[in-house]
Amino acid sequence: MNTHEKNIKNKKELTLNHVIDELHRFAQKSFPVEEITEFFQTTSIPLSQVNSYLFFSPLKYTRHLIHRSPDFELLYMCWSPGQKSPVHGHEGEKCWFRVEQGELQIVNYKLSDVNIPSKMSVDRAHVGYVDGPADIHLVENHTTERAISLHLYARPFDVCDVYDVTSQQVSKKKLTYDSVCSSFI
Ligand SMILES: [Fe+2]
Repeated sequence: MNTHEKNIKNKKELTLNHVIDELHRFAQKSFPVEEITEFFQTTSIPLSQVNSYLFFSPLKYTRHLIHRSPDFELLYMCWSPGQKSPVHGHEGEKCWFRVEQGELQIVNYKLSDVNIPSKMSVDRAHVGYVDGPADIHLVENHTTERAISLHLYARPFDVCDVYDVTSQQVSKKKLTYDSVCSSFI
């Protein structure tokens, strides 16, 4: 399911600690999908709160852990121009992402009867765009500017299925962090 940004001009600015507290409350309710989507659509976190923790790499998009509990993890990802994730699955877990800076493109796939992914749709995601929960997709920075996204995974997501569309192979990818923001853990 993809959910586009709501046209709400004045989003409520929240501190990261406030967002983390809210997510713990959502955890007690097993992460209600519509409520969380609405939460991300109607709030924002000033990037000034996390800019000092984030960095870009010329080699790959980077993953920065903000908070991790047994129920969920919250990350920022930094995308240099042209960088993209592999085609990957979320294996039924609940996840959301919101674009915080720049623009990203989401390419959604569906699996055929014989488990081969085929391209289904492409979404352009500008600042404030909320996507989730997702099934199989890739995310890419197709622009010439840097982009930053915020991700919620409920539960924490250490391994995912990665699809090689050309060879039609599926493999497991271990996910790692490029930094851990200990102030919020
Ligand atoms: Fe994803």
